Amino acid sequence: MIKEEISSIIKSRQSIYPNDFNGNIIPEEVILELLENANHAPSHKMTQPWIFKVFCGDSKKMLLKEIIKEKDTPGKKNEKLKDNFNRSSHIICVCMKKNNHLLPEWEEISATAMAVQNLWISCVGSNIGGYWSTPKYANKLKSFLSLSQDEACLGFFYLGALNSKNIRKTKRKSIHDKVHWFR
Ligand SMILES: Cc1cc2nc3c(=O)[nH]c(=O)nc-3n(C[C@H](O)[C@H](O)[C@H](O)COP(=O)(O)O)c2cc1C
Repeated sequence: MIKEEISSIIKSRQSIYPNDFNGNIIPEEVILELLENANHAPSHKMTQPWIFKVFCGDSKKMLLKEIIKEKDTPGKKNEKLKDNFNRSSHIICVCMKKNNHLLPEWEEISATAMAVQNLWISCVGSNIGGYWSTPKYANKLKSFLSLSQDEACLGFFYLGALNSKNIRKTKRKSIHDKVHWFR
C-alpha cells in the first residue's frame, strides 16, 4: 500500500485562482521552501532545466506593465489581469533551458513541469493558492526576463494567500478508462 498521506496531498492539489486570494503577502522564506521542493524534480542527465523568475512588490508592477505592452489589447480587457496581479502575492515566471544539444525539448519541458507540480503540491495545507497560466504572450517576454536564445518562458505561476481551505474540486475521468493492462 502507498502512504495515505501522499495520496491525500496529491488529491488535494488544485488550481486556485486569484479571485480567491486575499491579497496578503506570503513570506519570502515560504516561497523559497516551495521552490526548494520544485528543485527536487527529476531530469534526464540531471540537466535541471527549470529556471524561476520571481516577481513581487514593485517588480510585479513592472511585469504587469510589460505584459500589457506585449498583449496589445484595449484597456478594459486588462482590468482582470490587473486585479489578478493585485491579489497575487508572488508571480513566478516558469522558464526552462532547452539543452537541444543534449536532449529533445520535450524532456526538458517535462522536467520543468514536474518541478511545477512539486511546487503546486507543496501549497497544499498551507493556505497558499496557485495556478499555472500559459498565455501566448509568455514567450514574448524573453528579453524582459533576460532569457537567452536557448531558454523559454512556459507561463506564470500565480501564488496568493488564502483565508481558508478552498473546496472546489475538478472531476477526473475514471482511471479505468485510461489504463490498459497487459497481464
Ligand atoms: C501545463 C498547464 C497549463 C495550464 N494553463 C492554464 C491557463 O493558461 N489558464 C488556466 O486558467 N488554467 C491553466 N491550467 C490549469 C488547468 O486548467 C487546471 O490544472 C485543470 O483545470 C485541472 O484543475 P486542477 O488543477 O484544480 O486539478 C494549466 C495547467 C497546466 C498543467
